[in-house]
Formats: sequence, structure tokens, C-alpha cells
Amino acid sequence: MRLTNYLLSSVVSKRPFYITTPIFYVNAAPHLGHLYTAVLADAIQRFEKITNSDINVTFSTGTDEHGTKIQQAAAKANLSLPDYCTTISQEYKYMFKEYHIEYTDFIRTTEERHLKAVQHFWRRLVKDDYIYKAKYSGWYSVNDEAFVPESHTKEENTHDGKVRVSVESGHKLEWTEETNYMFRLSAFKTQLQQWLRTDGVIRPSKFQKQLQDMLENEVYFPDISVSRPASRVHWAIRVPDDEEQSIYVWLDALINYLSVIGYPDEDLMKQKNRPWPADLHVLGKDILKFHGIYWPAFLMAARWPPPRGILCHSHWTVDGVKMSKSLGNVVRPPLNAAGTAYGTALRYLLLREATLQDDANYSETKLINVANSELADTLGNLVSRCCGPALNPRAELPPLHPRGLEPAVTDQLMTQVDRLPEICHKHYSNYQFYKAADAVMSVLRTANQFFETSKPWELRKDPSRQKELDVVLHLTLETLRICAIILQPMVPDISERLLDKLQVPKTCRSWQHCETASWRVKGAIYEAKNIQAGKFVLFPRIYTEKKVKKASV
Ligand code: ME8
Ligand code: MG
Repeated sequence: MRLTNYLLSSVVSKRPFYITTPIFYVNAAPHLGHLYTAVLADAIQRFEKITNSDINVTFSTGTDEHGTKIQQAAAKANLSLPDYCTTISQEYKYMFKEYHIEYTDFIRTTEERHLKAVQHFWRRLVKDDYIYKAKYSGWYSVNDEAFVPESHTKEENTHDGKVRVSVESGHKLEWTEETNYMFRLSAFKTQLQQWLRTDGVIRPSKFQKQLQDMLENEVYFPDISVSRPASRVHWAIRVPDDEEQSIYVWLDALINYLSVIGYPDEDLMKQKNRPWPADLHVLGKDILKFHGIYWPAFLMAARWPPPRGILCHSHWTVDGVKMSKSLGNVVRPPLNAAGTAYGTALRYLLLREATLQDDANYSETKLINVANSELADTLGNLVSRCCGPALNPRAELPPLHPRGLEPAVTDQLMTQVDRLPEICHKHYSNYQFYKAADAVMSVLRTANQFFETSKPWELRKDPSRQKELDVVLHLTLETLRICAIILQPMVPDISERLLDKLQVPKTCRSWQHCETASWRVKGAIYEAKNIQAGKFVLFPRIYTEKKVKKASV
């Protein structure tokens, strides 16, 4: 009885972990950068899940569907607004499925639940007098959906003559004079500064510093406009009790993080185990200010705690150039890559190449080279060799005979494998996936070398050396098991296939299972275990004719 109660309550009290991606604008189809954010967030939540059996993950993503640029895009596509939004939103869902983005919640800002949340939030701000009406004039960027202070604008000569653009984004600005609702951002300066002093709240620290500087240096920290005339922006949520005004898309969009968890419905939030504050908002540097300044201020005004953490990443360029529609160099992840080497390769490359601090560069050549040399030659090839019929005809993990091989031969590999889980745990915890990939590949290269120098094909010919052969196979297969567990957050599909091949039970794939290599299990009886028999290719090499689809302009 007691035990049942205990078990029940432990299910209920699972620790919530709430991680989000931005919700993506539906003004164009998804590209490499959008996929990257989603893959990064997905890898983080997978790591959390395999390291903690007691967490309940909420992983949200979705689409941002209101505002002028969506109005314009739908008109251009000659579709009704709802149809247009559904089409692009669906493309995001396909993409996430293809690339194994295991989200638990997908939100669209055109949904009823979101409308309710936004209106409730707005009323809350009005009630506490954080919103007031005023005449507003300034430069507006439709592309960034933001007013830009005069000091952050410059004139540029284009083929349409002189235009004013945003220094930061380079996007065109329009002079706008309107009556708007304003939000008292200035009232939160001190509180924001305090929050931004929290250690590690924005990672990497470079971005935390940027936000701190922004607050320090902005001599004048102005209130911000949080509505637009409905006559200009009709595709939006209306201001409660004022049909003439539409709620500013960014306020609308940021509230998605609350709609997902059931806000403002108390019962729904309880069902979700109240995962607030969000543990981690993952996003690109282009929208850091909205998440690191506006969002916490909105939350503070509504008396909700700001997020526990923000993970900001830099951008992907293509062949050294910023992706842009007008240059026609936007890389769209193919949506028919399911189960193909290409899909796996792209997901791997995104995590393997990018650091968070600096922009990363994509090129198809790099994708193919990295995937072939690491996933095919270093990982896949080792799998084929030690599982294949030539050296392992009975398809088994042979027993580990003590002193089957000289320690001088086995030590380097065993020591490296022993250290690997701790090293990767540290890198994953710091969101440095490229370093974890490096560490795994380095161990796999050692394993390949060990395999080569042990010459198992010669041992195989001499029955008196069976024990030596067994040890070679055992150590290599065990190295592969550990690497496969560790690689799960990065390349879940091939990790799963490899673990299936090695017949590692589903219940033995969490982090604790990679921390102990079989050779460290004292007193274990080393009996041969079966692995799956049959032909097996973990990762087929990619040949150059498999072209990446570039978006047509
Ligand atoms: O900003 N490299 O949506 P969005 C890496 N709807 N990541 C990139 C990238 C690149 N070149 N380009 C875009 C919006 N991204 C708002 C968000 S959230 C409440 C509202 C990624 O469709 C990156 O995560 O413009 C960036 O922050 C996001 O896509 C912007 O997507
Ligand atoms: Mg954008």
C-alpha cells in the first residue's frame, strides 16, 4: 500500500523540464537556420532524458502566424491567410518529423488557446497600469517587426533611390506615425539589470554581456509600442475592448511560451505540472533582445518569474555568405530524407560544426566530407568489420578473457573509453556538441587503430588464438555500445539502429549504462551474447551527385 502510494506520488512529482524553440514566421518555408535551432533544442532535451529518469519534458515549438509580413506573403502566394499559414506551418511539422525533432507541443499563434492567453495577459498588464495610449512616431521595419530608434538607422542608396535601413539587420524602414498602446518598459530597467546579473542566465556569457551593455549604455531606455492600428495590421489579435488596434506581433508571439503550458487555465497548468519558469529558451542571436529584455519585462509586469535560462546561438552562413532570398542561396533541408544518409548527415553536421559563439559556415562539400569520414569511415566501418561474418561468423559479443591480450595493446583504448562518458557529459551540459562529437570520434579512431594493429584476420586463421580474437571483438563492440549511447542526442536514428544491432535492451540505453564499460564490472561472468545477425550498413557513404536542393528564387 505504502509502496503504491510512493510510486504514484513519484510519477506525479516528476521534475518538469521545459525547453522551447522560437516559433517560426510562416512568411517563407523553413531553412537550415530554423532546422539548426530545433536540432539543438532537441539534442538538449534528449540528453536531459537519458541522464534523468525522473524528468517530465515539455519541448515546445511552433509557428508565428500574425503580422504584416505574413499578410504580404499570403497575398503573394495567392492564398487565403488561413490556408497560407496552414501550408507553411505544415512544412515545419514535416521537417521536424524528418529530422527527429521530438517536440511534445506544437503551437500556432492562430489557435484559440493562444488567443485566450494573449488577451488574458494583455488585460493583466492593463490592470496594473503597465500599458497606456500615446501618439507614436518612428522608423518601423516590417521584416524585423520592430521600431528602430533613429540612432540605429542609416541611409542607403538603392535602385529605388535613397532608403532608410536598420543598421543592425539591414532591413528597410518605413516612417510611421500612429496612436499606439505603449508598454512601460522603462519601469523595469533596474529589475532587468538585476536579473541579468544572475550567473549563467544567458549562455554563452558573451550574449549575457551584450544584453548587460545594452541596458547600461542605452542612455534613454524607452517604453515600447505594443500595438499597431488594425487598419494597417489586420491579420493579428485585437486589443481587448479596442477593435481599432492590433496587438504587436512580438508580444503576441512571446506569450506562446505560456499558452503551451495552459496559461491562464489553472487546471491545465496543473496537468502539465506547472513547468514555469521555462528552463531554457533556445534561439538565434537575431532575436536575443526580444527574449532577453522584452520578454522578462513583460513577465515581470504580469508578475510571472522570468525564464531560468536562455541559450543563444550564432548564425549559419552558406559558402561564407549570409543566407538571403534575394541572393538565392537559402538552403532548404530536403523533406524526403527520411532514413537516408543525407538526413542523418545534415543533423550531425549542424551539431558537429557549430559553436554557439561564432557563425558557422555550411557547404555541401563540408557536409559530405564530414559525414563520409566520421559517420561512414570511422564509425560505420568499424561496425561492419566487427559485426561482419568474416571475423564474427556467429554474430556474437564474445566473452572477455582476462589477459587475453597484452595490456600494452589494450590499455590506450580502454583508458580512453573509460574517460569518454564524463568528458561528453561535461560538453553536453555546456551545450558544446561539437566537442562531444570530437571526443567520440577520437575514441573511435583509437578503436580503429587498435583493431588494425591487432590483425584480427590473422587471429581468425589460428584456432589457438581464438581468445585473443574474442578480446579484440569484445573491446571494439563494447566501445561501439558506449559511443552509440553517447551519440543518441546527436544522431538518434543511427544510434538506435546500432544499439538494436548490438541487441542492447531499450532499458539499458541511458547515460548510467555508458558509464561502466564491461571490463570494469568486477566479478561479472563474461558469457558470449548474441548480436543481430545479417548484413548491416550503418551509414552508407554519400556520393556527390546527391545534390542539396537550393531554394529556387
Ligand atoms: O524571429 N542561422 O522567427 P523567424 C541560424 N517569429 N539560425 C537561424 C538562422 C541562421 N542563418 N536564421 C534563422 C522569428 N535562424 C519570430 C520568433 S519567438 C517568440 C518569435 C533561427 O522565422 C534562429 O533561431 O525569423 C532565429 O532566432 C530564428 O530562426 C528566427 O526565426
Ligand atoms: Mg527572422
